Amino acid sequence: MLSGVSMKSRWLHLLLLVLLAGLCSAADLSGNWMVSSGTDGLVRSYFNLKQEGARITGTIRATQFYYTITESTGDTDGFKVTGTMQDGKNQRRVVYEGKLVGEELHIGTRRRFDGPLSELVAHRVPAGEGAYPARVPPPALHKVPDNGLAKTPPMGWNSWNKFASRVDDATVREIADAMVSSGMKDAGYVYINIDDTWEGDRDAQGNIQTNKKFPDMKALAAYVHSKGLKLGIYSSPGPNTCAGYEGSYGHEQQDARTYAAWGIDYLKYDWCGARNLYTNEEMHAVYQPMGEALLATGRPIVYSLCQYGLSDVWKWGPEVGGNLWRTTGDIRDSWDSMARIGFGQDELAPWARPGHWNDPDMLEIGNGAMTDTEYKVHMSLWSILAAPLIAGNDLRSMTPSIKEVLMNREVIAIDQDREGKQGKRVSKSGDQEIWVRPLSGGALALGLFNRSAESATMTVTWADIGLKKTPRHLRDLWAHSNVEAHGPTYSTTVPGHGVVLLRAGQ
Ligand code: GLA
Repeated sequence: MLSGVSMKSRWLHLLLLVLLAGLCSAADLSGNWMVSSGTDGLVRSYFNLKQEGARITGTIRATQFYYTITESTGDTDGFKVTGTMQDGKNQRRVVYEGKLVGEELHIGTRRRFDGPLSELVAHRVPAGEGAYPARVPPPALHKVPDNGLAKTPPMGWNSWNKFASRVDDATVREIADAMVSSGMKDAGYVYINIDDTWEGDRDAQGNIQTNKKFPDMKALAAYVHSKGLKLGIYSSPGPNTCAGYEGSYGHEQQDARTYAAWGIDYLKYDWCGARNLYTNEEMHAVYQPMGEALLATGRPIVYSLCQYGLSDVWKWGPEVGGNLWRTTGDIRDSWDSMARIGFGQDELAPWARPGHWNDPDMLEIGNGAMTDTEYKVHMSLWSILAAPLIAGNDLRSMTPSIKEVLMNREVIAIDQDREGKQGKRVSKSGDQEIWVRPLSGGALALGLFNRSAESATMTVTWADIGLKKTPRHLRDLWAHSNVEAHGPTYSTTVPGHGVVLLRAGQ
């Protein structure tokens, strides 16, 4: 028989166990957790989790991506979840690791599977906050009328390559000043384009606002315009931009009107967050509303499509009102990246024409990781490709040699040739390639590119590039001197990772 005391202690024990169990179940991972980062904490990631014993399910909305949790291990003391999402034809996966620390969820991911864990602190937010917006079916296709802009490839500057998220009002003003004082403006560069990370939240009426880095976009536009320059901005057809800021999803007309009211002259529109809601096949339709909305503002605004060359954009870019479209993923400041992109554009030549350009991405000239000789290849190749010339360096601190590369007017004249025909590769022998661009008045631009690290002698045979006789006028556009040519061929030495760029005319 149990004594009264031990009965009491048994009851107490039981009560304690019940209380503990209650505490443990409250302290599970279930709930809506939010991490905020970026300027003004505007980049918000949501971990909407449901823990049932050893199983965690739910969704993860992280910057531009929206994942469903498909695998999980562990518990409050240390867990791992795998999120997956469909991105075009690929499945994208992310692994987050975390643990509960008091009221906080410490959670992070590794860029490489064996790399360091970058840990973030998430807090509970009400259920439903940050819920991913419902999909709006893409509109029926129709042709957006031509806006008549960009008759030659746009020239300007963009903040991303050099500044990424560190761009702000003061920097943009200084870049505009430098665009003028350096001579870039006189050389033809006109657009000052703010890339991702300027965005704030929407106000109660849904109007997009700037974040603290850009206190007054209208005043900034007025400043840029006062210098005889134009201002560009950036957004996405998705709910979020690539860096995770607010996109234009569901606000296309409203945003276009806001841009016009601010005095914006150029919009780069980046697929990013739209990948969660639409397939690549739907891109064409998804890019149409903004093309229309920009046109409807009545303000001339260049429309730049940024969707990394997916879905044969060159075939439909003009139909959504696009003036240029990216043809590849992001460029980096390296010979390999630049050369892979630049020399890979050959087949797209037929799609470029005045008002509508292939965009092999912005220039890296002057960012420091290529030699001046390699930057000359970058500039020459982009000019032969009739590519937009959007500088991506710090215009406030250019060396004389970088200025010479970016402001070589003879090369710029090739890029800006009014016939707008994109050049093509005419021969390739090992690492040596010859590219030719037809110019107005029957002239030709001729790029003798040496992709090898060693210098090489290269020979052009006039008949091979469609010339019946030796050109009477041959000019070396980097040496700024006329070249004597006699006979059926012309040979010259081209430095390693270098170019000899010629203009040939009769
Ligand atoms: C993408 C684009 C880049 C840049 C970033 C900004 O990666 O391709 O050019 O705009 O987004 O987040």
